[in-house]
Amino acid sequence: MATNQNPLIEVLGVSKYFGSVIALNDVSMSVHAGEVMCLLGDNGAGKSTLIKILSGVHKPSEGKYLVEGTPVDFNSPRDALAYGIATVYQDLAMIPLMSISRNFFLGSEPTVGWGPFRRFNVSFANQVARSEMAKMGIDIRDPSQPVGTLSGGERQSVAIARAVYFGAKVLILDEPTAALGVKQAGVVLRYVAQARARNIGVVFITHNPHHAYAVGDRFTILKRGRTFGTFTRAELSREEMVRMMSGADELDALSHELEEFAREDAEANAGRLSSAESDMAHSLEAGESMYGRTARGQAGAKRTDER
Ligand SMILES: Nc1ncnc2c1ncn2[C@@H]1O[C@H](COP(=O)(O)OP(=O)(O)O)[C@@H](O)[C@H]1O
Ligand SMILES: [Mg+2]
Repeated sequence: MATNQNPLIEVLGVSKYFGSVIALNDVSMSVHAGEVMCLLGDNGAGKSTLIKILSGVHKPSEGKYLVEGTPVDFNSPRDALAYGIATVYQDLAMIPLMSISRNFFLGSEPTVGWGPFRRFNVSFANQVARSEMAKMGIDIRDPSQPVGTLSGGERQSVAIARAVYFGAKVLILDEPTAALGVKQAGVVLRYVAQARARNIGVVFITHNPHHAYAVGDRFTILKRGRTFGTFTRAELSREEMVRMMSGADELDALSHELEEFAREDAEANAGRLSSAESDMAHSLEAGESMYGRTARGQAGAKRTDER
């Protein structure tokens, strides 16, 4: 990690209001070249709002945004892209029936010929798509196959390779592993590490602390629009991270609540033990392991939705 030079991007004391909703409140964070900065937080924590500010979709209501030490004021994602700040959204903006190489060059198609004979340069596109994917360690058999035939993880990697090829210095990934099973998530995490090896600064958004810990150099944790601060791996154990993110304190409270219900039911049933509630209370007490199960359960559920 290069701390001796300006971060690639940095926000200082940023707030964002939507009417009376405070989506972000006095948040600061930065990303350096060659590091993976994980942005963590539960649903509604403000992660998407923060990356929309970074990528030029929203303007901050308050605070500063610096790119390599210089204040910027982006009016659109195009402005951010011009500075090499590329965002890969979860829905990916790909056309499933079009080829991998077509999708790779979507919006900036290489052409051959002139005037009415100008056409998409298929062989150039195929060759670039294949070699760029190979650089990320993925072997595409046939770049002319439809993107829809790729797995979710591979599709994410096409989007990442595309951003890198078009000169991204900062790569922002919004929950790239959220809808993936364990193995496919592993594929994406590997590309995240590859991007870092190529000296790109990566902002990796997730609500899965295990995915974050697998690749992150630093971690910024958001909760209800505020930040707990930024931590290095040395400063934050995986257990502490899970606790901060999953609101383990709230789980404890909920578990006590359920125990109380179980006791009341037991009394009402004259000594017969109420099973369901005490079971739930016990699994909630398990805390971290229960979080792991939940995370995997969600991934599994989403995977079935995926085509
Ligand atoms: N365009 C918007 N208008 C009003 N409220 C919004 C808007 N975008 C986000 N919010 C609110 O800001 C908060 C943070 O949302 P978001 O950044 O999407 O969280 P996350 O991505 O961490 O789940 C939520 O309470 C959400 O309802
Ligand atoms: Mg979000």
